[in-house]
Amino acid sequence: MKIEGKEYRTIWYQENVVKIIDQTKLPHQFIIKDLKSVKDAINAIKVMEVRGAPLIGGTAAYGIVLAVQENNDPEFIKKSAEELIQSRPTAINLKWAVDRMMKKLSGINSDQILSIALNEAKEICDEDEKFCEKIGINGLKIIEEIYNKKKDTVNILTHCNAGWLATINWGTATSPIYHAHKKGIPVHVWVDETRPRNQGANLTSYELNEEEIPNTIITDNTGGILMKRGEVDMCIVGTDRTLSNGDVCNKIGTYLKALAAHDNNVPFYVALPSSTIDWDIKDAKDIPIEERNSEELSHVEGVDENNQLKKVLIYPKKSKAINLAFDVTPAKYVTGLITERGISEASSNGLKELFKK
Ligand code: MRU
Repeated sequence: MKIEGKEYRTIWYQENVVKIIDQTKLPHQFIIKDLKSVKDAINAIKVMEVRGAPLIGGTAAYGIVLAVQENNDPEFIKKSAEELIQSRPTAINLKWAVDRMMKKLSGINSDQILSIALNEAKEICDEDEKFCEKIGINGLKIIEEIYNKKKDTVNILTHCNAGWLATINWGTATSPIYHAHKKGIPVHVWVDETRPRNQGANLTSYELNEEEIPNTIITDNTGGILMKRGEVDMCIVGTDRTLSNGDVCNKIGTYLKALAAHDNNVPFYVALPSSTIDWDIKDAKDIPIEERNSEELSHVEGVDENNQLKKVLIYPKKSKAINLAFDVTPAKYVTGLITERGISEASSNGLKELFKK
């Protein structure tokens, strides 16, 4: 998608380095950063220079490429793979991508290992882009249906950033929105600010602005009253891990939004590529929920009057805070799962039917 009119993907390989858009600096500064070693890739995931489940997966895949490039020793590559998997615990795409890379490289010691790794990482990213585009085509039908009934702007609420910046391109939750906009359907997006890191305000609103899609930032607590007033036609969110029974783990606050949607009969959709489905864990309480540094709550970052990035403390110094990064929305509150294969009920039967092969 576009930034200042120029098309980008979120990650690419060029002249022996991996290029990323540093998302910790957006929306104030647009910086393309070089990842030169697997340590750089691990750090980029940890500090969230890259974030969003599919992009974390893509970065981990290129992390393996960097490991091979640095030191083509099976022990080093194996250790790097383990460290990559541990860099953030919740998004299943991370382990999925590393496992896929390691399977591809298993038993290969030849000079070709680097080009095989590069091809596979590119394939993982190309596939994500293709799947996200399909999610958009499938989700477009829901927006079209609402528009055909309403004949007026479709108001969509989203949480966090499941936009193109969280994937390789298109996004998951935003892909149906981009497709609707391209088709001329009037859409307006309510963007949850998404405390504490403000991915909604900093990233979702930014990328929608760049594509000229009308949007309004709201605090995380505003969705309920907007739904009650009939000002939300549907919600679409992304996910970091969806269980085979349809339970959805996503950014903290998603669950409360789903409860409000349920109480107000607002359809609540989750958009995801199949790489985000965890077919192994059966019980949501076994999902590893990331707990991040409480400094993300106690401090906020922005720019001052001279456009300089600044971090300031907003809490009493002595106060304690807890920073759980994700929650789980039970399948019963999810209207449907929008995937690259189509839309399914959030249930074991629904997902089994869609992913029979
Ligand atoms: O902590 P983040 O910014 O990585 O969390 C991102 C989300 O919660 C997204 O909704 C999810 O990863 C899906 S991205 C298509």
